[in-house]
Amino acid sequence: MIARGLKGITCTETKMSFIDGEQGRLIYRGYDAADLAQTHSFEEVAYLLWYGTLPNQEQLIELKKQFQASRKLPDNMKSIIASVPHSHDMLSVLRTALSSVELTDENQATITDAISLTSLTPAIIAYRQSLQQDIAFPEERSDLDHVAYYLYMITGKEPSKAYVQALETYMILTMEHGLNASTFSARVTASTESDIASAITSAVGTMKGPLHGGAPSGVIELLNESVQQEDIREFIREKVQQGEKLMGFGHRVYKTWDPRAQAIKKILQQQKQEDDWFDLALNVEEASINVLEELKPGRNLYTNVEFYAAAILRELTIPTNLFTATFTASRMVGWTAHVMEQLEDNTIFRPSAEYVGPFYS
Ligand code: ACO
Repeated sequence: MIARGLKGITCTETKMSFIDGEQGRLIYRGYDAADLAQTHSFEEVAYLLWYGTLPNQEQLIELKKQFQASRKLPDNMKSIIASVPHSHDMLSVLRTALSSVELTDENQATITDAISLTSLTPAIIAYRQSLQQDIAFPEERSDLDHVAYYLYMITGKEPSKAYVQALETYMILTMEHGLNASTFSARVTASTESDIASAITSAVGTMKGPLHGGAPSGVIELLNESVQQEDIREFIREKVQQGEKLMGFGHRVYKTWDPRAQAIKKILQQQKQEDDWFDLALNVEEASINVLEELKPGRNLYTNVEFYAAAILRELTIPTNLFTATFTASRMVGWTAHVMEQLEDNTIFRPSAEYVGPFYS
């Protein structure tokens, strides 16, 4: 039997996360991810994934120091970023730039490397943006925690507490998610005993696809198209009848509500003042779920994290072209943690394919 897309195949063990696709629960190293997102910082959860335990005060201070000390974009990386053709999107820039990160030792994946890769991502994005838009590159600062620093780098402004809190929740909830396509890519590359920068380069290339990390901009398109319709439900129905996949709906593992989507939706509801756009998102969600139940019965298609990710990132005034890059900035922690875990007890990934071509002799 062929397991297309490796559906239902378990091919490794992990201590990183547990996804309960039936109950809609996500656990990071024993802790509920939605709870962590409300009670802990980005650095604390990153520490948890990398080291396996939550940090004490001293360990947290040390980690923050390491983050802050690894932010400076080297000149050679600036030249590499500038050399990526103008028409390429931010994920292509990240893929190219991150592949050139200097590693402590090419023969082993270390937490120091994981911190460098995570810490440099905001500056890579900001530097490329400054070139594309001919604006000043914000000076790298060492007085901000990672999420505030990310917002500062991409907006050039001091971020508000509410924005930092909302983005931190999003970034913690999207930090890790088992053997999703990009994490699997990273582990496959690591399994050949290649280096961590190569593994992350594979992951970023995989993240870019619209069926994975590229979905939020598709969600924005869906919402922008929907706002022009008199009958949203009919419009959605036509799309599904024509075989189109609705971006932000469905998931390989969740056959119920995606807990990340629900947690982000909750924050949006709490922060909501007057926002027609959020109301539109609620309408599109309701219409789509009804249509999917009718036209795709039994497939259990609900909103996934990307649907409300699009809503929250838009609320934070993050430009659409940076949605997937922002997802990349948070998932970097999960990828690097998985690469280290893969190397702890490595077996090279090498599945088989059934030959269905001709034999000429
Ligand atoms: N819209 C309409 N129909 C859908 C959707 C959707 N979003 N998702 C699945 N279906 C249908 C399929 O057409 C298929 O129908 P069929 O049985 O009549 O052939 C059935 O549901 C099963 O779908 P598969 O594509 O086989 O499910 P799979 O587990 O392989 O795919 C995936 C999961 C890729 C997420 C899919 O649901 C999809 O393409 N969604 C839209 C893109 C998206 O939102 N991606 C982000 C995912 S979250 C993340 O990566 C962080």
